[in-house]
Amino acid sequence: MKRAIFKKFIVILSIVLILIGSIFSIVFSDILMDKTKNNLLYILRIADNTINYDSNLKEQLDVIKDIENNESTRITIFDYEGNVLADSEVNDHTTMEKHNKREEVMEAINGGSGFAKRNSETLGIPMLYVSCLSKNGHYILRIAVPFSGILQYSGILFPAILISIGFTLVIAILLANQFARSITKPLLEIMEELRKLKEENPEFHFKEYEYEEMNMIADTIMEMSKAVKESMKQIEFEKMVRQEFFSNASHELKTPLTSVRGYIELLENDIVTDENQKKNFLTRIKKETQNMTSLINDILMISRLETKEAEVEMSEVRICPLLSEVCTSLEPLAKQCGVTIETNCKPLTIIANTQQIKELFTNLINNAIKYNKPDGKVMVTVTSEADKIIIIVEDTGVGIPQESKHRVFERFYRVDKGRSKKIGGTGLGLSIVKHVVNYYNGTIDLETKLNIGSKFMVYLPKKVNHDKIN
Ligand SMILES: Nc1ncnc2c1ncn2[C@@H]1O[C@H](COP(=O)(O)OP(=O)(O)OP(=O)(O)O)[C@@H](O)[C@H]1O
Ligand SMILES: [Mg+2]
Repeated sequence: MKRAIFKKFIVILSIVLILIGSIFSIVFSDILMDKTKNNLLYILRIADNTINYDSNLKEQLDVIKDIENNESTRITIFDYEGNVLADSEVNDHTTMEKHNKREEVMEAINGGSGFAKRNSETLGIPMLYVSCLSKNGHYILRIAVPFSGILQYSGILFPAILISIGFTLVIAILLANQFARSITKPLLEIMEELRKLKEENPEFHFKEYEYEEMNMIADTIMEMSKAVKESMKQIEFEKMVRQEFFSNASHELKTPLTSVRGYIELLENDIVTDENQKKNFLTRIKKETQNMTSLINDILMISRLETKEAEVEMSEVRICPLLSEVCTSLEPLAKQCGVTIETNCKPLTIIANTQQIKELFTNLINNAIKYNKPDGKVMVTVTSEADKIIIIVEDTGVGIPQESKHRVFERFYRVDKGRSKKIGGTGLGLSIVKHVVNYYNGTIDLETKLNIGSKFMVYLPKKVNHDKIN
């Protein structure tokens, strides 16, 4: 990369030098040409002032030529028709052709002065011709000098150009090297840091660089590494949750299965003869299988909610009738626990799956009854606010310790294992509630105080994704 930057830098510099050189030589040539023309015109004007047109013109031209002191300079005098009257280089001017068609002569006749640049027919070298009309207006004076423009000064200019190019190149090489290094050095350092990716727990440290883009690369790497770490943590956590779930689920199934097997073996071996005892065993077997069925149903429900199964039947659910249905079904349990249920329901509807909303109410109210005190109360309120439906289930029960507040939504989590065993249940109820709430993009909050009671607040958006409605 360093080489590539270096090369590009030199290429750009060479292009710039060539461009500057070309522009300079064009401008310089123009100035030089202008200057020379004016000087020659000046000489012609002086000559015009000194020449006596009535005496020998050739002799006078030779004197002027001597003063001008340049071998190749040639001065010619024409009449108005372009006939040569005298020429500093030719002794017998009568042999010379008419010059009225020459560009510089025509221009002088028409405008007082004229210029032309062309190869001399006699010398075969580039010449500059300048002519002017004499003061009396009868003659045209012309001076011709060899002129090769800027090349005339090549002897002075080329060494100067070569020295400045060499000098510029040396400085440019040094600067290009430094510039390339200033880019590649941070990149190499970033690359070196990136090698840490092979390590198990990489910690990146980047310097503050001169170029903002480098800092942006470093920041992005830091952010990416943070995100990767977070997702690794999440994966680890999910792995642990899954393992815990499997061990809990198998444990929850193993216990009732063991007792069912025990009862069956007792019945099979005719150890129990008392008919009442036999009936009692069969009732227990039935209860255990019912428990297992409801456990499996709960697990299936969570798994369906987690995978956001497509074939969930959606309809307009009227909340109040559904709530009273749930309360009626829980009335025997409430009576048994000595708890009263109060409801305050605003007539609202939601597009949802009836079974899921029913599960949500059942689990929250069931808990509020189960974890209540004798003569306790359960208050269920359904209201709405802006675009949300708010469901509040409040009880005057045992409350939940602060450290368990967030864990109660985990699968199989129970605050008091011993007591929960007595009460029954698997610890999946609140997990189902949480999954239902997530399914509808809602939120759930919990306020609780030990021995005072708990308040579960569910917020469900009124508008659900209509793709889900069948
Ligand atoms: N209203 C409440 N008051 C006090 N504790 C509660 C309340 N609701 C839940 N808990 C605590 O949170 C735990 C988890 O509740 P969750 O509903 O998930 O399981 P569960 O009621 O034990 O079993 P399941 O609901 O599967 O029958 C409960 O075991 C209980 O300790
Ligand atoms: Mg429960």
